[in-house]
This record gives sequence, structure tokens and C-alpha cells, in this order.
Amino acid sequence: MAGAQATVRGWVVHLRSSGKIAFIVMRDGTGLLQVVLVKSQVSPETWERFSQLTLETCLSVTGEVRSEPRAPGGFELGLRDLEVLGSSPIDYPIQPKEHGIDFLLDHRHLWLRSPRQVAILRIRHEIAQAIHDFFYARGFVHIDTPILTAAIGERSGLFQTEYFDEGVAYLAQTGQLYGEAAAAALGCIYTFGPTFRAEKSKTRRHLTEFWMIEPEMAFYDTHDSMRLQEDMLAHIVRRVLERRRPELQVLERDVAALERVRTPFPRIEYSDAVSILQTKGSAIQWGEDLGAEDESLLVEGHETPVFVCNYPKQAKAFYMKENPADPRTVLCDDCLAPEGYGEIIGGSQREDDHDKLVERIREEGLPLDAYGWYLDLRKYGTFVHSGYGLGLERTVAWICGTPHIRECAAFPRMMHRLRP
Ligand code: 4AD
Ligand code: MG
Repeated sequence: MAGAQATVRGWVVHLRSSGKIAFIVMRDGTGLLQVVLVKSQVSPETWERFSQLTLETCLSVTGEVRSEPRAPGGFELGLRDLEVLGSSPIDYPIQPKEHGIDFLLDHRHLWLRSPRQVAILRIRHEIAQAIHDFFYARGFVHIDTPILTAAIGERSGLFQTEYFDEGVAYLAQTGQLYGEAAAAALGCIYTFGPTFRAEKSKTRRHLTEFWMIEPEMAFYDTHDSMRLQEDMLAHIVRRVLERRRPELQVLERDVAALERVRTPFPRIEYSDAVSILQTKGSAIQWGEDLGAEDESLLVEGHETPVFVCNYPKQAKAFYMKENPADPRTVLCDDCLAPEGYGEIIGGSQREDDHDKLVERIREEGLPLDAYGWYLDLRKYGTFVHSGYGLGLERTVAWICGTPHIRECAAFPRMMHRLRP
């Protein structure tokens, strides 16, 4: 490569000049390039064009590639010709200084260009691809489930819209119920798509629009499902460590913590989790869901994710199967990420008994007629099956080590943020 002539197009990241020799650091989307101009070796027009450059000017540079160990990437370009493709006024909003988070989110369309954001988006892509590859290798079929729905999935808030003469449509909170129908057709499936929750929570872990991966597996019980979950997470972590080291470095991620992720993950029964938490000073009572602080307390001292299994019925969704060993509880698991990142997966074995499911729908005060088709899955050839939902942004946050999940979506949607 050294010695070759090259033309590179990209944007100005940094400019520096001593009057005789000048440097442009530019970004082309794949990486950084250092460009060197020597005043005595370029035309006066080219030197003049350099002096007009500003941050984020889009330009095309042509010159000779040279080996330069001190330059980012190990090469630099000895400039021969420079062309401005798109100028950038000097008021570019994001300058090399501290900006507040609201300012940055208001300028998300430009903030995306910064090295940290680029690293996060590349890791998000790697994780998404790793998930597709994981399921493809196991013969799972990728299913797209509807976003406009008539039935309700989870308990949290719903976004709704008028739907012609059909009344109200809800934006899907989950693809699961449709995934269950598809599992009876195809065996093992997974969904990978946006889900919506009108939750008025302003935490570090909640978006109103997030991407969820929801596998659904015919003939898997809750234990089979947990084994799949840990294999999937170990695969994702390994893949990012293999292919995204430079990005993890940009993020200053403690890579050793990721390297310690090993299967199997510990399984803690909900009732035991409550006892552990109470001895650690939590106010949690049997029957309540774990709060964010409880989740952090519980994973303390664990280097891998932890499963909390078999929650009380009242804390979980209607579709989870009653636990034969303790009918106050259901066969389910939450997978909690280490380092305090909290729940990244919610999963369960599904109630496959028609009458028990009807009873649970009634108990929850849900409209039975909306679930007619879902009950059909228990009427015509009911089957043991399990599934889970992995939150993509929460997984990205954990692997990248970002404290808030808002940086883990290109254009995050939160209670107070719909723009840009
Ligand atoms: O635990 P949840 O609500 O489970 C379900 O939706 C099931 N239908 C999944 C299934 O069994 N097919 O959500 C699953 C995961 C959570 O563990 C979390 O990672 C993520 O989705 N999640 C959110 N991520 C960002 N913002 C929110 N508001 C989220 N709510 C859930
Ligand atoms: Mg959950």
C-alpha cells in the first residue's frame, strides 16, 4: 500500500499548521487518515484551499500513501491535490470541548459523527449480526411480526392510533404472541424488530422505542431456554471481543470484565433472591418485582450474567406457565447483566393449558375476545414451548460499558425526546 497514489473522500476532524507544513486529520466513515501538506511542495492554490478548511468540511484529497507508525492506522497521505466537496461554516455546533447531554441529544444528527458514537454504532451492528448468525447456525427462522396490533402483550403503557373502521391499533410492545403462532408452524423462530412502550420512566434503561430479539422454541422447557440464552450471550460477547477490540478501546471499556463471561450462568430462585437481597438491606418483600437497585445488589460479586428464576405470578405476565413445584410462581427467568447493567432478558415457558390460560387472562382483566386466536394455539395441538426477549440497546450498553442506553440507539426515543 505504501508508495501508491490514492484519493480519499471524507470530513475534516482536525487541522494543524506551522506555516510551512500542515496536517489534516480526516474521517471517511471507516477510520481516520492523517494528510500532510508541505507548502513548498504543493501549488499556491492548494495551500490557499487548505487555509480555508474548517471542521467538518467535506473534501477529496489525492496524494501518495506513506508508512507512518505515529499516524492513526499506521499510514499517512502526502498531499498533492485537495478539492473541497462541501464547505462547513465555522459555527459547527459540536466543538472539541465538553457539551451537556441535552445539547448533544438535540444535535444527535451531528453527534453521531464523533468517535465514541461511531464505536457504539459499530458494536451495535456487530451484536445484531452475531445474533442473526447465532440463530441461523441453529436453524431458527427469522420472522417479522406486526407493529400495528389489536391485542396487548405486556403490562406497560401502550401507544395507540386510530385504525380506519377497526377501532384502535396499538404499537407492538412485543412480537411474542405472534412468535408463538409461528413456532407451531416452523419449530424454532426468532423476531428482530422495534417494540414500543409508553412508559413514563426516565431511567438509564428505558426507551419508548427499543429493538427486541424474541426467539420462540417449540418443545423447549424453561431450562432449555436458559441454556440457549447463556449460549447466545456468550456468543455475542466473544464475537465483539474478536472483531471490535479497537471500538472497545475507543470506549475505554474494561475488556477483562467481558473476557470473564463464561457459561453456565448462575441460576437463583426468586425466593432465594429475596432472602439474599433482604440480608443486603433491600426492602423487597416476597411478591414484588426486583427494582433496579435490587438487580445491582444481586449481581454483586458475579462476573457473568445471573438468572433469577420463577417469580411470583402477580409480578409477571399472564402467559407464563404455572410452576408445578410451587403454583404461586411461574416458570420464568430474568437474565441480569453483570456490573450493574440490570435485566437484559425476560423469558418464560408459556402456559400451554387452554383453561389455565383463560383463567389468567380473566384474572388480569384482559379482553378475552382479543386473545381468541392466541387461545387457538392451545386448542389445536397445544405444545410445550418457551421463549425470551433480549433488549438490544441494554445489551449494547452493557457490552460498550455506557452508563445510559440513550447512546445505544442512533436516534433514541424517550419520554421527552422525539427529535431529531
Ligand atoms: O421483560 P420484557 O418486558 O419481556 C417481553 O416483552 C417478553 N414478551 C419477551 C418474550 O418472552 N418474548 O422485555 C424483554 C427485554 C427486557 O429484558 C429488556 O432488555 C428490554 O426487553 N426492555 C427494554 N429496553 C429498553 N427500554 C425499555 N423500555 C424496555 N423494556 C424492556
Ligand atoms: Mg422483564
